[in-house]
Amino acid sequence: MSRNVVLKCKNTSLVTIRPAEEDDAAGVLKLMHELCAENPNILVTKDELPLTEGEERKIIARIECSHTNWLFIIAMVNSEIAGFLDLRRSRLERCAHTAELGLGIAKPYRGLGIGKAMINYSLDWAGKNSISKVKLGVIASNTGAHSLYERLGFAECGRHRKEVKIDGAFEDLILMEKELISYDS
Ligand SMILES: CC(C)(COP(=O)(O)OP(=O)(O)OC[C@H]1O[C@@H](n2cnc3c(N)ncnc32)[C@H](O)[C@@H]1OP(=O)(O)O)[C@@H](O)C(=O)NCCC(=O)NCCS
Repeated sequence: MSRNVVLKCKNTSLVTIRPAEEDDAAGVLKLMHELCAENPNILVTKDELPLTEGEERKIIARIECSHTNWLFIIAMVNSEIAGFLDLRRSRLERCAHTAELGLGIAKPYRGLGIGKAMINYSLDWAGKNSISKVKLGVIASNTGAHSLYERLGFAECGRHRKEVKIDGAFEDLILMEKELISYDS
């Protein structure tokens, strides 16, 4: 069941965190393009994003149908999408207790506690859906994201060396994970 969480961020704006709906497709795509254009810290490049709003709508519709396996939430501030978070259960039966997390916050809204609130929302969802481990990969130079994950209890569990190549330079991908108490295990 979808859940809206409203909270005050550090600059006292109200932020609503909720599952994305098909009508959010254009805004989500816009934010993803902004992040790709601005930020070398994410793995996806703009050419790998959905091309059209219609394609993004279809993805969101698929997510809505697989609501116990895939969480895709957005943070809204003054009717603008300030961030998104994607948490997807492994499709492998033997790893179905695990899920992989990705997130991005729009530049003007960073440092306000929105990333932290979105991760906490997603960990709550994970616990309610029999997921007992959340994992992610963070590019080694992305110290801000690394600090955020560490602060929320994620621990490094390894690294893929020279996994990412950005403008000709190799970067390690740090692997992090957090074990959860699944509410129904
Ligand atoms: C990394 C990112 C998701 C952080 O989101 P955010 O909403 O700005 O983070 P929050 O305001 O919730 O920060 C919560 C805590 O994380 C830590 N943190 C967040 N950003 C940090 C930074 N740049 N440097 C150091 N610590 C940071 C702090 O401990 C912070 O707590 P504090 O403000 O009380 O000290 C955001 O900067 C972002 O989207 N960056 C671009 C895309 C990206 O890197 N995505 C992650 C890919 S793995």
